[in-house]
Order: sequence, then C-alpha cells, then structure tokens
Amino acid sequence: MISENKTVRKLGIVTSPLQLDEQDTFFLFVNEAISRSGLEVFVFDAVDLTDDGEVMVTEINRPISFETRASLGRERVVMRLSDFDMIFLKKDPPIDEFYKNLLKRLVEEKIAAVNKPVGLLKMGSKAYLKHFPLLTPRTFYIHKAKDAVKYLKIIGNCVIKKSDSSGGKGVSHIRYKFGAFYGYRSKKEVVLAEAEVIKIVENYLENSIDNTVLVVEYFLSAPERGDKRVVILDGNILGSYIRLPNLKTGLCVCGNNGAKLCDPTKRDKEIVKMLRPHLKKHGIELAALDLLISKDGMEHLSEINVFNPGFCNLDVVHPELNVAKKIIDMLCRMMREST
Ligand SMILES: Nc1ncnc2c1ncn2[C@@H]1O[C@H](COP(=O)(O)OP(=O)(O)O)[C@@H](O)[C@H]1O
Ligand SMILES: [Mg+2]
Repeated sequence: MISENKTVRKLGIVTSPLQLDEQDTFFLFVNEAISRSGLEVFVFDAVDLTDDGEVMVTEINRPISFETRASLGRERVVMRLSDFDMIFLKKDPPIDEFYKNLLKRLVEEKIAAVNKPVGLLKMGSKAYLKHFPLLTPRTFYIHKAKDAVKYLKIIGNCVIKKSDSSGGKGVSHIRYKFGAFYGYRSKKEVVLAEAEVIKIVENYLENSIDNTVLVVEYFLSAPERGDKRVVILDGNILGSYIRLPNLKTGLCVCGNNGAKLCDPTKRDKEIVKMLRPHLKKHGIELAALDLLISKDGMEHLSEINVFNPGFCNLDVVHPELNVAKKIIDMLCRMMREST
C-alpha cells in the first residue's frame, strides 16, 4: 500500500480510449488503481501532449467499463507530463509521430514509465525475434518485396508479418504450391498473382518503422491448439492460458473466442529464461508471449508483446492470481522506489 507515508502519487495511463476493445486489461487496471488510497489516476493519449510538455488529461475517480469508456474524454484538465510519478504505457503499435514524441519526452524528462520507452522501441517490433532463431518457427527477415517472394517459394506455407503491427492487422497467411500463390479469405483458398503478393508485402514495408517484413513458416497445428499466452511480470511467469482462434479468420487476435487453462510448462520456463536478460536490459516489466505449437508438440515463440500486452482472459481462467492487484502493486512499488 502506498498510503504509509501519506504521499499522494499520480499515475498517468496512456491509451487510446476509443480504440479499446472489450478485452483490454485497461478496465481491470484502472478499477484496481482507483481503489488505492494515496493514488490519483489519470488517462490521456499521446496526441494530448503539447510541444511545451503540457497534457490534456481526464482524472478517473469512478469505475470505468467498456460501455462507459466514452466518458473518458470528458472533463479534461491540463497537467504537465512531469507532474506524473509514473506513466503506464498501454498503447498498441504502430508508433505514430505523436507516440514517438511522447516516448522521447519521457526519456528527456526522466519520467518513470512502464514499460521503458527506449526498451519499447528496441523490443517492440517483431524483428526483435531474430535474436531467438532457436525458439521461433523458421523465419526470414526481409527488407525488399522480391525477397519475400523468394523465401515464400522456399518455405511454401507461410505467414507474412509486418514487423510493427498488432491485433492481426499486419498478418497474412500465404502459400506457394505447384507454382502458384494462394491467400485465404474466410479460410477459403484463393489464387493470388505474384504481383498481388508483392503488393501485400510492399504495403507492409511502407511506413514500417524498421523496414522489415517477416516470412514465417506456417504451423498447421497452431490454429487447432490456439496461441499460448504467457504473461511475464518482472522477469517471472505470472500465468498462462490458451487463446482460441476466430473461426472465420483462423487468427488468435482480440476478442474472446474462449480461453482455456494451460499452466506454464518446462519449455515455457526455458523460453522465459532465455528472454529474461533481454527484458531486463530493456526495462520491460510487463510482457506477454505468444507461443505456437508445431506438429511435434514443441512450443515456439511467435511474438513478444510489450506495448499493450493483453491478458484479460488470464483473469477469467485464473481469478486467484489477481493479476490487476499484482500489476498495480508493481507500479506502486516502482513509484515508491523512484522517490
Ligand atoms: N507461424 C504461424 N503459424 C500459424 N499461425 C500463426 C503463425 N504466426 C501467427 N499466427 C496466427 O496469427 C495471429 C497473429 O500473429 P502475431 O504474430 O501474434 O501478430 P499480431 O501482432 O497481429 O498479434 C497469431 O495469434 C496466430 O493465431
Ligand atoms: Mg499476437
């Protein structure tokens, strides 16, 4: 509890209120944070920061739900970014100019933040997976559309991924077989001309922050089992569960298509052990891994979510973990330690 020394601390949560989906942990965290004495809770978006370090914020002092989220933009007041004791960054990529500007300012003004802005920029793109070739499915990291075509032809059944995207927006399942390319619409195979494949990859490369597209081996077994989500707090596994794919798209993104209990295995612990030094070095307190299973039953690392790691369903399948309490405890502890 932070009330011991009667100091009032200010927590600023950065998010895009109108883009929140029902599954966002934002609601869990806010409602836990406002229950703490000595903690004032505010929300704002990167676009609300002005060039001279002022920010238009909404104070939250009553519970917020998905249905009432529109009220977050009302009754705004002006504060300085430096007024905050801690900034909790909960904003999905891509990183636009406003978000880049906010991250830069947090660094310049040495304002405490979770996760650390410099670390987000380093580890926040899928290209960071190239540090873990032994953990990921077979992957090529390419910078030119024609190289994507080359590796698609080598691997055959692939997922093409924009390096800095989220929520399934920059992910396409493309297959090369018998001299032709195929895409998938509502799980139906449709023929794609090579020029169409090139167009998809070029679109992903355009505005990509690190000019990288991943050509990844597709695991047929992945949508059957679902993604395993392993949540990491302070370098340790907080909990894990299985996210099931959307029936139409076959992708495990956003929304609740059902969540299943699935506790951490020895392999999950090994993966986290390999990642731990990277998370520590880059100041990533909170992360969520996506693990996919190959047909031999082996877990593979598919994504390291550090911007706005979603794990609402962990709370559903493991309420006893009290995830919101643990995260807010962590933020309060960090605020105490930094003053
Ligand atoms: N190699 C793969 N094989 C099969 N399905 C995959 C593969 N990679 C990703 N997917 C599916 O696509 C979804 C989105 O991919 P992911 O890399 O997690 O990107 P995003 O940032 O959009 O969440 C995953 O949750 C998974 O269901
Ligand atoms: Mg994902």
